Amino acid sequence: MCGIVGYIGEKTAAPILINALKKLEYRGYDSAGIAVFNKDELKVVKCKGRLAALEEKLGNEVVDGNIGIGHTRWATHGEPNDINSHPHISNSGSIAVVHNGIIENYMKLKKFLEAKGYVFASDTDTEVIAHLIEYHYKGDLVKAVTESINELEGSYALGVICRDCSDQFVAARKDSPLIIGLGQGENFIASDIPAILEHTRDIYILEDKEIAAISRNNVRIYNNYGAEVKKEVMHVNWDVASAEKSGFEHFMLKEIFEEPKVLKNTINPRIKEDNVVLDGININVDELNSIEKIFIVACGTAYHAGVVGKYIIEKLAKIPVEVDLASEFRYRDPLIGNRNLVIIISQSGETIDTLFALREAKKRGAKILSIVNVVGSSIARESDNVLYTWAGPEIAVASTKAYNTQLAALYLIALDFASKKGTIDANTHSKLMEELKQLPDSIEKILQEKKDIQKFASQHYNAKSIFYIGRGLDYALSMEGSLKLKEISYIHSEAYAGGELKHGTIALIEDGTLVVCSMTQDALFEKMISNIKEVKARGAVVMVITQERNKPELQKVADMVITIPDVDSLVAPIAAITPMQLFAYYVAVHKGCDVDKPRNLAKSVTVE
Ligand code: M6R
Repeated sequence: MCGIVGYIGEKTAAPILINALKKLEYRGYDSAGIAVFNKDELKVVKCKGRLAALEEKLGNEVVDGNIGIGHTRWATHGEPNDINSHPHISNSGSIAVVHNGIIENYMKLKKFLEAKGYVFASDTDTEVIAHLIEYHYKGDLVKAVTESINELEGSYALGVICRDCSDQFVAARKDSPLIIGLGQGENFIASDIPAILEHTRDIYILEDKEIAAISRNNVRIYNNYGAEVKKEVMHVNWDVASAEKSGFEHFMLKEIFEEPKVLKNTINPRIKEDNVVLDGININVDELNSIEKIFIVACGTAYHAGVVGKYIIEKLAKIPVEVDLASEFRYRDPLIGNRNLVIIISQSGETIDTLFALREAKKRGAKILSIVNVVGSSIARESDNVLYTWAGPEIAVASTKAYNTQLAALYLIALDFASKKGTIDANTHSKLMEELKQLPDSIEKILQEKKDIQKFASQHYNAKSIFYIGRGLDYALSMEGSLKLKEISYIHSEAYAGGELKHGTIALIEDGTLVVCSMTQDALFEKMISNIKEVKARGAVVMVITQERNKPELQKVADMVITIPDVDSLVAPIAAITPMQLFAYYVAVHKGCDVDKPRNLAKSVTVE
């Protein structure tokens, strides 16, 4: 939610800030702005709308100067308009601030500052920060920012420039991500790595309540008591192309097409001589045997991966698993302690609900194993064990390749736990490992057949409502298929367990209603046939996603059969999600929706 950037160096700051913001637009895109310092002047240009609107506005202005900050917004306090856009400036015009996060005590601070004579222009919580820093500023910007953040409650990543400081700007963070990019004679800040990749791969990760003084040739970091902190430089291996569209019309399509490659990256290095070897996980047999229950905690797509994880871990490792939405978990007083393992799943590693749930579980004594995509993210750093999904940067707001790799990671964990606990026989173990290794090729084949899905999507993009049904693992899969569709195409959609339809929702099926049926579970095949017949009898149009082997049978009852190769039922969700992602994608494209930046959403949800 919101992307912030900052630059100091010898080049003109404005184009660098704009380019960096383009890489962060996935975080929020209802308004944007920059502030650049040039010869005693702090110039702020900002406006409502996408970055393109800001670029147009900048086309009519001269914005020189080689130190600046920028922001792309996902509104929390105050509607998206020019005034509420960041940067916000202090009353004297000497301090400019960009902010990602929410200041929870801003009303109290606002009253205090108003009593001191400060006049507020916007409806945002951020504006208090600009005035507060000015209030504390006595010639030392780092000190003023430190004193200010010590009075802030809530979350923040901040970039601050000051008219009196031509040689540095200041950054700080708490519970919102911020990295510092280290260049040659230039330095950067950004909410996420892709923003600075074209300039440097060496970064510092700022920790909570750290403050950085950033000049051209130097970066100094302090804690909130003023003591200097020494940091390790982290080298990022991603290449620039992985954060670019590379000829695809949208990031979402590119990311779906990357699934075979990223699955290989996630699975292959962890299978050694027919054994699963999990780097970064240190849980021995005794510990495993002492676990009474596993909790899987996550949000959105990552939560849906967790629902699949429950089935798999219970089936293979025979440990009871409860799956929780992170936003519910942290407030429900969960019965959890040191005999529980908590598996946290997060692509970004920065989702605030998930991060706070992790902290809650840790406080109660549970061990934390996280499945995370972004190296060095807050969730990764605060976990006892981390299994990285090597999906590379995921830019489209709708998560695709990250989901496939989250599932792969959960299967690897389940297999590892099962073999350590002795709950799986050798044959099943090696068969499943073989199936996992084959998955990238299976998805490659699905991608080659995309035309059928594209055509079917072109016939149904006007649907008012689309239902997704499945049983067992297919129900978990349906939840994700349905979320994908609604978030990018704005078509109402619900996922239902096949057997649950008749308890109410079937009332909504009428002539022409599209029902998408996942049918990858051999043991539940006949039950699902009955469900298809039930909805067909009420006029539904049925699209089925199933293994090649079931096609002849299903062609007799369904209107459209999309096949995946003949994978085993247990690993099928990892492959069967791909046609659903493609279907959602093509429906949204036919509707003319902004696929990569759907309305009201943002990629990284760093507010509660
Ligand atoms: O970065 P995370 O995996 O923690 O994000 C969780 C959700 O916000 C995310 O999966 C969201 O639901 C996506 N927009 C789904 O496509």
